[in-house]
Amino acid sequence: MPRKCSRCGSANAEVSLPYAKLSLCRDCFLEYYIHRVKRTVEKYRMFRKGEAVGVAVSGGKDSAALLHSLRRAFLSQKIVALHVNLGIPEYSDRCQEEAERLAESVGVDIYILDLKREENVSLSDFKRTIYKKKICSVCGTIKRHSFEEIAGRAGVKVLATGHNMDDILSFMLSSLFTKQWAQLVRLKPVLPPLFSWMTRKVKPLIKISGRENLLYCLYAGVPFTEIECPYSKGAKTKERLKALEILSMNNPNIKYQALDAFLEISKILEEKIKLPKATPCVKCGFPSRDGICAYCKRMAYVKEILSNG
Ligand code: AMP
Ligand code: FES
Ligand code: ZN
Repeated sequence: MPRKCSRCGSANAEVSLPYAKLSLCRDCFLEYYIHRVKRTVEKYRMFRKGEAVGVAVSGGKDSAALLHSLRRAFLSQKIVALHVNLGIPEYSDRCQEEAERLAESVGVDIYILDLKREENVSLSDFKRTIYKKKICSVCGTIKRHSFEEIAGRAGVKVLATGHNMDDILSFMLSSLFTKQWAQLVRLKPVLPPLFSWMTRKVKPLIKISGRENLLYCLYAGVPFTEIECPYSKGAKTKERLKALEILSMNNPNIKYQALDAFLEISKILEEKIKLPKATPCVKCGFPSRDGICAYCKRMAYVKEILSNG
């Protein structure tokens, strides 16, 4: 006899959530997922009723599940989708198509920033620079800058991203081992803006695993692409994610315990650690250490290389 759903008791259970001691049918899983996203938003006061929310959608499963579930959880909230096309051949256009399909299916407007069209530079151009082995880090700099740019165009002051629990834990371990305290302190559910014109960054999926996001998309019929970025996640990130999975085999609760412990200790860290003071970039106004932000520096550098042929 197949096991019945622990919530409704009538349909067959299809998803096992050992950390919550639940086995749910598809419908109850979707309901449970949306309820958790809603609870996380409310617990951390990520946004208020009348605020417009920009959801950064990459085309992948996490941000697809985020946009879809936020729409369901907050029916009267103004929500828009934001997408950055990084110009990576055979990848970025597919991601944009999927992000557009998603926005249409959810019924929200989408704002797109096309890096190649606007800057005449694509992420792949950095392959010709000293960053060729650190494309992911340049990508992060470009995305952070671009998100603020399109959020401004869309008129939103809240930026929600699909970072999931596994992303956070992996990033936490890496920042801890490399003593990147400032990065560690910024890793929290709600990051207030550094300057008043910027967005508040929120992570409503901080307590949800990548697997649950995938199941949500599959069961709710949410469009997403599984195509992987050719430059994505280094071997070390994959190793850390694998280590977390191995630990979870004996204790399904361990990731939740680790996240809870981290969120508690990060409050203490925040009081102790002085973040470097930021001054506005003279070119774009973005936070910088010395008057020119990382984005403007990298753009000027890659353009110089490109112009020399
Ligand atoms: P990643 O840095 O690729 O792990 O992505 C983390 C989150 O950033 C995703 O869940 C999205 O919310 C957002 N994101 C990543 N890439 C893009 C993109 N090209 N356009 C819009 N949002 C993105
Ligand atoms: Fe950023 Fe691939 S999307 S390195
Ligand atoms: Zn700048």
